[in-house]
Amino acid sequence: MPPLGKPPKQTRITSPRSKHLNRDQKFFDRYSLVLGVLAAATIGLIVLAMKLSDMTQGVYTRDGAEYQAALNARIRPFGEIYLPGEEHATTAAQVEPVPEPVATVMSGPQVYNSACIACHGTGVAGAPMTGDAAAWGPRIAQGMDTLNEHAVNGFTGSLGFMPAKGGRLDLSDDEVHAAIQYMVNESSL
Ligand code: HEC
Repeated sequence: MPPLGKPPKQTRITSPRSKHLNRDQKFFDRYSLVLGVLAAATIGLIVLAMKLSDMTQGVYTRDGAEYQAALNARIRPFGEIYLPGEEHATTAAQVEPVPEPVATVMSGPQVYNSACIACHGTGVAGAPMTGDAAAWGPRIAQGMDTLNEHAVNGFTGSLGFMPAKGGRLDLSDDEVHAAIQYMVNESSL
């Protein structure tokens, strides 16, 4: 039986293992501190990037008319419903430049068929019929200038009254001249 006494003195208060544990603990504490700082920095950078993009893209890109128009065109619904008489609602992206109306000049036959044929096609009210060479011969003999002048300004002859431009004052002088040329060509032998 061993003698009773003090328990053997513990020389090592910390075992190598507990020493290791202490070191791990220290490392972990530091490491989590570093992690925390890094995470905070990351969040800070994200917020900064968002702010920056808001300041730049918000002003220069997203609010731009071009961008907005393209966006509207992209998110436009495929079909649209129109009730009778409703205007076609156009978005900015759909608006196409309206071409300048071109002043169209009617050709001789076109003018004749719309403004002169009523009288000169039938001989109404003494009008010399187109194609009647006998009726047109003496008139053509006056010369084109006289014919042009009579037709543009109006003319009262022995057979009746030729209204200025055949009553179509919207026609240009050149259009009337072209119609006369056509009538003369049709009525020459
Ligand atoms: C409302 C009927 C009427 C219409 C429309 C009319 N004319 Fe006449 N035109 C006459 C009559 C009538 C005469 C013959 C007048 C006369 O010699 O007494 C005439 C004569 C003429 C003459 C011969 C003038 C001359 O010196 O002998 C010319 C050229 C002529 N018309 C061109 C035209 C042209 C071009 C148009 C169409 C832009 C036209 N007319 C439309 C009734 C018409």
